[in-house]
Amino acid sequence: MTSARPRSLTGIKPTGTPHIGNYLGAIRPALELAKTHDSFLFIADLHALTTQHDPKRLREETYAVACTWLALGLDTKEVVFYRQSDVPEVTMLAWVLACFTPMGLLLRGHSAYEELAGEAPAAPVDESLSEVAKKRAAIREVLEATGALSHGIVSYPVLMAADILLYDADVVPVGKDQKQHLEITQEIARKVNNAYGGEVLRVPKAAIREDVMTVPGLDGRKMSKSYDNTIELFLEPKPLRKRVMQITTDSTTLGAPLHHAGETVFELHKLFAAPERSAALLASYQSGRKDPASGDAPENLFGWGHGKQALYEVIEESLRAPRAEYQRLMNDRGHVDALLAEGAERARTVAQGVLARVMSATGLRI
Ligand code: ADP
Ligand code: TRP
Repeated sequence: MTSARPRSLTGIKPTGTPHIGNYLGAIRPALELAKTHDSFLFIADLHALTTQHDPKRLREETYAVACTWLALGLDTKEVVFYRQSDVPEVTMLAWVLACFTPMGLLLRGHSAYEELAGEAPAAPVDESLSEVAKKRAAIREVLEATGALSHGIVSYPVLMAADILLYDADVVPVGKDQKQHLEITQEIARKVNNAYGGEVLRVPKAAIREDVMTVPGLDGRKMSKSYDNTIELFLEPKPLRKRVMQITTDSTTLGAPLHHAGETVFELHKLFAAPERSAALLASYQSGRKDPASGDAPENLFGWGHGKQALYEVIEESLRAPRAEYQRLMNDRGHVDALLAEGAERARTVAQGVLARVMSATGLRI
């Protein structure tokens, strides 16, 4: 790790069991980026606490995420890998930032809205009110009526800004859904810098992964926990095969050419397989034959069942070794704790330096 490389930082919220979409869309690209960047990755357990109030599940999911990344090749010598709550400096910085964060910025933010989805009363119909004012009014009403919106949820983006600014991050690679949070981070950092007339905080660049493909789920929509269409990463062979066989396909009959572009089985296969192997599957799709050079005897015919079997095999081969490593790590929590503690120590060295700069700029310290 050399300090000349730009620093990238990302938080991973430990919620639910990681799936193939998380792997291909977030984990694999982040591990790739770590090869060229001074990379910080952390488990955002304080953020998870905004919605996860079951201690057993919070603990389990934190380990599950940690072990998933480690099993998939995260090298803790290269990457600073830690648990957010192991670096208490982040909450100190979050408070300082909170003192520079206009409430309006937070109430416009989407995290508050997601939380309220379905609960917010219809916005007032008065056309003269701006959208923002309508939303604020709706939030206020829910706040008063149900108490559904915690302070933690509203200030979620402030803590996220602290996560990023505490480490002088240059780039923050995230999915599109986090774009607004990054804009809030940049705005808060600029406000602090303006207030004290200097570069107290480094304003990070967003690296929105617009181009990362959306991994399709069993029903062809985006693979997501919320659609219940995921393939969990570390399923045993039997349940994995069962899940793959559930992928929705069209009703093309055995032996007829299959449509491949944008088709779930084919696209997932391509994401795992070496190019030659994907090309061989394409040839089968196009010919309707297992081997395009063979005749049309029944045993030569190719159909969806064979495509799915090919997909199952390539996923199983790719994830067999990481699955074993995952299971090993999940049963050796002492080792995982030690790795995370080491990461936290490295993270704190950087965090304390930045926090000292902030404490001095604000007058909280000399
Ligand atoms: P989910 O939609 O299952 O709740 P999360 O929102 O927890 O997934 O996503 C965690 C990370 O994985 C994010 O960086 C997100 O962009 C990525 N990700 C999730 N699903 C997919 C998908 N189907 N394709 C590509 N990336 C995905
Ligand atoms: N909010 C992010 C998510 O839901 C997780 C996160 C917390 C994060 N802190 C961060 C991401 C800092 C990037 C940088 O996915």
